Amino acid sequence: MPNLQGKVAIVTGASRGLGAGMALELASNGASVMLTYTSDSSTPLINDLITKILHLSPKVKVSSCKADLSTSSAPSAILSALDSWLGPSAHVDILVNNAAVEVINPLSALSVADYTKVFDLNIRGPILLTQALLPRLNPAGHNRIINIGSVAARCGMPSLSLYCASKAALEGLTRCWAAELGKDGTTVNQINPGPVQSEMLDNIPKGIVDGQKARTLVQNRLGTVEEVARIVAWLASPEASWVSGQVVSASGGLELY
Ligand SMILES: NC(=O)c1ccc[n+]([C@@H]2O[C@H](COP(=O)([O-])OP(=O)(O)OC[C@H]3O[C@@H](n4cnc5c(N)ncnc54)[C@H](OP(=O)(O)O)[C@@H]3O)[C@@H](O)[C@H]2O)c1
Repeated sequence: MPNLQGKVAIVTGASRGLGAGMALELASNGASVMLTYTSDSSTPLINDLITKILHLSPKVKVSSCKADLSTSSAPSAILSALDSWLGPSAHVDILVNNAAVEVINPLSALSVADYTKVFDLNIRGPILLTQALLPRLNPAGHNRIINIGSVAARCGMPSLSLYCASKAALEGLTRCWAAELGKDGTTVNQINPGPVQSEMLDNIPKGIVDGQKARTLVQNRLGTVEEVARIVAWLASPEASWVSGQVVSASGGLELY
């Protein structure tokens, strides 16, 4: 099992779906975790997850921050929450940029509002948060930044062009940040999950998901939150020190990179 004792992690979009599973897995491996989310309706989910994490071990700390990462003020809200939680000298070792949104609309109907909705959260969000956290990364190095993309980054999916393009753009950020931040042992990687049951997947047209399942080499099934979360925990661990600038297809062989 990856050993994350003593590490501090931030997971965005940790109230439900994949992000909640990633936060739980990091905490199960010993990391203290800040959970970020944005909807009032998700506050009970966050509180449940906090309770679950607190039961794991007395050494694991957990906190949460409600902030809309599609706004430019979210990173400072998250940094303030970090200060209140662990003190102003606390460092972050692991950042998982997970929160994202999709818009389903064909090219002919796309609007500027659709573009803003997807790119402000899926691309500007990770840029501003990662940038704001740079001075708070552990000065000892060996930090871990894990961007959550999607197999959609390299697929042609009807009516999902903004989402697919945002995840392809995230790959560009991942590779360049790996080049910029690697000198002290920090790694930057991206995980591209295939379909996993979640509220986001519920919005994807059934025909697309059925086609993906049929082409998935491992058992023609959906992935599970835990299968993706375990890859996050491994990439976050010291064992993954020699992997950087990579995109991992976490899709049961649906997409082969
Ligand atoms: N599920 C899949 O099949 C699948 C496949 C490939 C890739 N992915 C990727 O995996 C990641 C998680 O997907 P998911 O299916 O778990 O999504 P989800 O169930 O829709 O959950 C989205 C999470 O992001 C948060 N969020 C949404 N808008 C936000 C905003 N403006 N500011 C801050 N947080 C915001 C939500 O918080 P609230 O609860 O507060 O709204 C929630 O915690 C995404 O990057 C997605 O693209 C998912």
